[in-house]
Amino acid sequence: MTIKLYLNSRFESGKPFYLYTGRGPSSSSMHLGHLIPFTLCKWLQDVFNCPLVIQLTDDEKTLWKDLKVEQAYQMALENAKDIIACGFDINKTFIFSDFTYIGQRPEFYRNMIRIQKCVTFNQVKGIFGFDDSSVIGKIAFPAVQATPALSTSFPDIFGDKKIPCLIPCAIDQDPYFRMTRDVCPRIGFDKPALVHSKFFPALQGAKTKMSSSEANSTIFMNDTPKQLKNKINKHAFSGGQATVEEHRKLGGNCDLDISYQYLRFFLDDEAKLEQIKNDYTSGALLTGELKKILLDTLTPVLTTHQENRAKISDEILQTFMTPRSLC
Ligand code: TYM
Repeated sequence: MTIKLYLNSRFESGKPFYLYTGRGPSSSSMHLGHLIPFTLCKWLQDVFNCPLVIQLTDDEKTLWKDLKVEQAYQMALENAKDIIACGFDINKTFIFSDFTYIGQRPEFYRNMIRIQKCVTFNQVKGIFGFDDSSVIGKIAFPAVQATPALSTSFPDIFGDKKIPCLIPCAIDQDPYFRMTRDVCPRIGFDKPALVHSKFFPALQGAKTKMSSSEANSTIFMNDTPKQLKNKINKHAFSGGQATVEEHRKLGGNCDLDISYQYLRFFLDDEAKLEQIKNDYTSGALLTGELKKILLDTLTPVLTTHQENRAKISDEILQTFMTPRSLC
């Protein structure tokens, strides 16, 4: 993945900052789309050698989905393993479930209340679309997601120092952080900076977003090679023509073709990607052949992830999830 990044003066010249990202555990396995911001996060952590906090919003998913507290917490633990399997540095990463951590550190809860005191019901209604029938947990939740952007919410890592925060995520999380950026200066903190990754589309089409709630449109990190093959061959939307003859004559449309779109994220070789685009557009490359290239690219991504995940012991998980000082 090619990454070009321009950070403003707050993030220059070796000044300390930390990364903050998260996951709402609504399924026991994460999907390929989730990998995008987490891969970016890992790259940022490696390059800037900085601490990273990862919030698992099991409280959010209990409030929004048909999930009991215990189920959401369990999924948070499962998702934490998927996240660790991305290769984060155990000495620089703290992963926390809201259900566990918020009760452990009063500093987090105090910051949450500072934020809640600055935002009216009218404002969250406007930002998140709540109405009179929304349960009150939902109304208060945006402050929970905003709180990790204040470094003092993590006294074990930052003490009482105010350190700038950079948040990698996709655009769907922006409403939370627009609110956070509005509140931060009013309570004496820098606004967090954000870096948005593109949406990874669902199998059904380039203009969609991959989501956990649609099994047939989603590739989960725990899919077997056979499931992956079935999903790609059966469901990946094709930008090709109806017959081989027509395809050879008219060529395919890479903008619409999901296999090509997925390769844009996962094929590192830019020259090869360009060649594939030219060949598919001219009709020299058929849809079946393009899907085969995608399968050869994605199968090792999933199997390597699954192997890494299988190596994560309860002890490693517990270390990542223990509030502690980070190097
Ligand atoms: P969640 O679990 O919906 O998504 C986790 C992260 O993955 C991004 N994402 C995607 N990125 C690319 N393509 C997709 N198809 C796709 N689907 C999801 C999301 O933008 C997110 O970065 N409320 C949050 C959890 C959270 C959080 C955070 C996320 C708490 N604090 C701070 C980011 C930053 C949620 O439910 O994410």
